[in-house]
Amino acid sequence: MSTIAPAPRAFVIGWPITHSRSPLIHNYWLKTYGLPGSYERIPVRPEALAEFLDGFEKQGFVGGNVILPHKETAYALCAETTERGQTLRAVNTLWKSGGKLCGDNTDIIGFLASLDADVPNWAERCEKLVVLGAGGATRAILAALMSRCHARIILINRTLTRGEDLIAHAHTIAPKQVIELHDYSALPGCLAGADLLVNTTSLGMENQPPLTIDLAPLPDHALVADIVYVPLETELLKAARARGLKTSGGLGMLLHQAVFGFARWFGQTPVVTPELRALVTRDIVGAG
Ligand code: ATR
Repeated sequence: MSTIAPAPRAFVIGWPITHSRSPLIHNYWLKTYGLPGSYERIPVRPEALAEFLDGFEKQGFVGGNVILPHKETAYALCAETTERGQTLRAVNTLWKSGGKLCGDNTDIIGFLASLDADVPNWAERCEKLVVLGAGGATRAILAALMSRCHARIILINRTLTRGEDLIAHAHTIAPKQVIELHDYSALPGCLAGADLLVNTTSLGMENQPPLTIDLAPLPDHALVADIVYVPLETELLKAARARGLKTSGGLGMLLHQAVFGFARWFGQTPVVTPELRALVTRDIVGAG
């Protein structure tokens, strides 16, 4: 007698969750590769997180993604996490192994894979880096940059105490890393001679104030990256492109971070294709 395994189900949980584009991405890959399974958006309130994570296998789920505000709590609830998850003390990708909850954080590799795809060889010239922000997303970006570049890093944030906390965390990963901290008044001097500028703040995102900074001090070879992907091209990236600088938008990080979860749950490493990028782009533009 043979038993037919049920098609794997994966989830994305958050609160709120309506804006997540992950179902579009994963269901596109399921269809493209002709794989059985589903990927579903599920709203989970913070107080219900532990119960959901404890029992998702019984509902037929093999694992899923966690978004705000659950990434740190999910990390704390995991029995096992990858080194990347431990580095960030936050997870975005979950699965079970032997009944135990396991977690990974694919933001670091997602960001690096996106930069690699947009600007191959970018890391060959990165000695002075400027990072805007000191929020949850900044942790992953700093860890990513420290893993690839031997660089002087300059962190710019409105609230200096948050910057100090972030630097303390970064030093637990790379104790010798030089990271300077300034507020926005120091930005022009910091941009002079910088190889890379990354925005990790929420400024420039739809329904948030714009990020208006003068890019004139950046050298002509500089790369400007933004992790915001709604809108697809932020005012920062538009200004960088107008100046003839290389740019990398936030959509690539979203698409590339999804690769690793999909491979784990559905058993096939998917490819970020121009067709997928166009599909998600249409969805974002259509919702605007
Ligand atoms: P997340 O965890 O998603 O990264 P967050 O923790 O709220 O979000 O961080 C948002 C980032 O955007 C922070 O660096 C924040 O600066 P502060 O630490 O000073 O709050 C930055 N940010 C948000 N609104 C801003 C504004 N109006 N001006 C300057 N920075 C802003």
